[in-house]
Amino acid sequence: MFKIITVVGARPQIIKAAALSRAIKNHYSGKINEIIVHTGQHYDENMSQVFFDELGIPSPDINLSVGSGSHGKQTATMIEGIEKVILDEKPNAIVVYGDTNSTLAAGVAASKIHIPVVHIEAGLRSYNKKMPEEVNRIMCDHVSSLLFSPTKTGVENLLKEGFKQEAAGNYTMDNPGVFHCGDVMYDNSIHFSEMSAQESTVLADNKLIEGEYILSTIHRNDNTDTPERITGIFEALQAISKENNVEIVLPLHPRTAKILAQNLPAELYLSIQSNPNIKLIPPVSFLDMIALEKNSKMVITDSGGVQKEAFFFNKACIILRPETEWVELVSCGSATIVGWSKDKIIEAYNRYSNDSSLRFPPVFGDGKAAEFICDMMLKHLS
Ligand code: UD1
Ligand code: UDP
Repeated sequence: MFKIITVVGARPQIIKAAALSRAIKNHYSGKINEIIVHTGQHYDENMSQVFFDELGIPSPDINLSVGSGSHGKQTATMIEGIEKVILDEKPNAIVVYGDTNSTLAAGVAASKIHIPVVHIEAGLRSYNKKMPEEVNRIMCDHVSSLLFSPTKTGVENLLKEGFKQEAAGNYTMDNPGVFHCGDVMYDNSIHFSEMSAQESTVLADNKLIEGEYILSTIHRNDNTDTPERITGIFEALQAISKENNVEIVLPLHPRTAKILAQNLPAELYLSIQSNPNIKLIPPVSFLDMIALEKNSKMVITDSGGVQKEAFFFNKACIILRPETEWVELVSCGSATIVGWSKDKIIEAYNRYSNDSSLRFPPVFGDGKAAEFICDMMLKHLS
């Protein structure tokens, strides 16, 4: 039996891991044995456990309970814990997702003891190394043996860094295999969409009317921790909600919830709190999030995953960042980059409110990325 250790830690990784665990359960149960290690990077019930309960992911076999901390402390503690698990379990490969500190830690731990790293969501680049995620994803890509990119742009980014798409079999860290395979998040959005429609009551719970509210999420450290940026964003949301009498629902990441009172001017903070059109709510489950995305008028976010899900559900997206890794969304016009500028956010909202000609071409695969990844792991690493 081919044995993998999947390392997850942050909310989006747990969601992404659901696609692979589902593929293994449905098609590879006699061939792949998956052990799930949770680093504990995210630990609140609504940032972690809710997804295991709701998405049918097996409970983590091991939880390292690392918790929050500085980049160095958090990553180092994870490396130590993951190394021990690898030495105990002796897997054929380590599977990691995306670009968080949990991804980097697993990449470092596994590569140093010569266990092949399988990086799902490889090749994404913002070309901004001040983002902790950019450093994490570059370093992880460069110690991986199999790199699965969700987009053609991701593959092209890797080729620019010296990877070879046509490298022949026997893949190792020194001769890595690069594959364009579609997006496991797209697999999940298709799979859970119907379930969300049947089970989620989030619209009714929050008295939201289909097609008439904006969904917004904000959690990038650059935005939350810089008073000027978080102020620009909330001034824009306040203005949009008041001038258009439109509701904005914000499931707040704990990082944002903790820092809002501190980093917004007191007057703005109070007026946000007393604005009935702005609904600050705790993080929601994935089924609820799909319901909020599918039924929204528009999405305003700095999240990587939420940008893409907006696209999957044919919604315009205003990106609260100076750049994006998901350049396909912007090049086809259905998403726009505005950073944290109040004026640009408002301008983008007005433009998209009056635009019924948006395009959402199918650039994220066929909903079977996870099956492809399982096939390639078995073919090249077992
Ligand atoms: C991390 C990832 C980011 C990803 C995001 C997904 C890194 C460097 N960043 O950012 O790429 O987009 O996850 O959500 O890995 N906190 C809680 N409860 C929790 C988790 C976090 O209260 O369950 C608070 C803590 O105050 C913590 C802060 O949020 O210090 C930040 O958490 P952390 O995991 O360090 O980074 P994220 O901003 O979540
Ligand atoms: N998400 C969720 N509940 C929320 C906010 C986000 O289930 O309250 C999901 C969202 O649908 C997407 C993923 O979490 O699948 C994105 O995670 P996040 O925005 O935290 O991180 P990023 O994608 O930016 O790394």
